[in-house]
Amino acid sequence: MQGPRSPEAHELDKLVQFLNKNLRQNAEWQINQEYPTALTHQNLHNMSIIEEDNQIVSHALIKPVITKTPHAIFRIGAIGSVVTDPNHRNKGLSTQNLQNCLAKATAQNCDLVILWTDQYDYYRKFGFELAGFEYTYVMNQPLPIENKDYKFIKGSQIDPNAMLKIYNQHTVNGVRTVDDIQKCLRIPNSNVFTIWNQQNQLMAYAVEGKGADLTNYIHEWGGNVQCLMDLFSYMIQTENKSYTIMTPIHSVNLRNKLRMVSPTEHQGYLGMIRIQDFDSIATKIKKAFKSEGFDQIVLEKKHGEIVFGVGTDLYTLASETDLVQIIFGPNSINQLDFMKPETQKVLSQLLPLPIWVWGWDSI
Ligand SMILES: CC(C)(COP(=O)(O)OP(=O)(O)OC[C@H]1O[C@@H](n2cnc3c(N)ncnc32)[C@H](O)[C@@H]1OP(=O)(O)O)[C@@H](O)C(=O)NCCC(=O)NCCS
Repeated sequence: MQGPRSPEAHELDKLVQFLNKNLRQNAEWQINQEYPTALTHQNLHNMSIIEEDNQIVSHALIKPVITKTPHAIFRIGAIGSVVTDPNHRNKGLSTQNLQNCLAKATAQNCDLVILWTDQYDYYRKFGFELAGFEYTYVMNQPLPIENKDYKFIKGSQIDPNAMLKIYNQHTVNGVRTVDDIQKCLRIPNSNVFTIWNQQNQLMAYAVEGKGADLTNYIHEWGGNVQCLMDLFSYMIQTENKSYTIMTPIHSVNLRNKLRMVSPTEHQGYLGMIRIQDFDSIATKIKKAFKSEGFDQIVLEKKHGEIVFGVGTDLYTLASETDLVQIIFGPNSINQLDFMKPETQKVLSQLLPLPIWVWGWDSI
């Protein structure tokens, strides 16, 4: 076995073939078309491969994204395309690739690392825990369209600058360039719907599907809430199907509207999150509280345990996985019945912090 190591530029095609064979057997496209900002030459240094006899047998990659939130900017590494050839499983190869990716996250100052999987226990061994929120709503009936004079378009031939302008209005988003948007617009099986006003200004967008994933899920959206509701109705009407809309917890106005039409409201997790840099996270959280006038927050490590609280009212958390569910949810400060009410009151002013990764950035 050789590796783990980053592939060289001339090995990217070979790697894509390996991933296509193991993760996308029936797809009509190449897997790198699905992840155009992660499985690309610019991100070679963040891929990790292991070879045997010159053949790639295992891979994982990480893509760091700077994520803006109202109270802090986080550098989040997203891990994806973790796979080992079926003939080489259970030999610790993915473990080596994952550890290599985590080392890359540290080297690039990531505060957090996130991934999406259904193999929770496997990733728990690496310090990942289900955390954050993801709300989903089903919309199966169109509502009467309110912006009747607006134009609806299905198709990805749209100005990425217009889309970026609306994307940048999100309170939580990963930093993207026009070029990133342009690349995302070309992802196979990603249907883009837009609504434009009489002055031909983009008012809202919604994206369904992404390669092999998220079919019938609207995982990317942006813009004015009423325009979005009109857009969803237009989609249901013209495509003659229902959609599931994914939203962060902090999209309160849109969630209120969706709650009125959806038969269900489902609360899930954003993903499996690992605190990669405790000191950096602790500094950012204390700074966020300080800017709101709370300068007595304690969050530090002592003898391997996490000490957390306000002033002299301090509590010990056993692990970073407990902390991650408190910082980003779903655990509420108010459920921590060992904590004094006045401490709960201060901490719940900001916690859980809003965090989100938009669908096109998930890998
Ligand atoms: C999930 C997957 C990536 C794991 O790859 P792998 O190389 O077999 O992973 P590892 O060998 O590191 O770990 C697998 C198991 O072997 C065990 N193991 C680790 N090191 C070992 C070693 N040196 N010898 C024997 N077993 C070992 C691990 O503890 C783990 O056990 P668990 O399943 O009880 O947690 C692989 O099964 C796969 O490619 N699946 C299909 C694609 C997929 O589902 N990817 C995940 C997307 S998020």
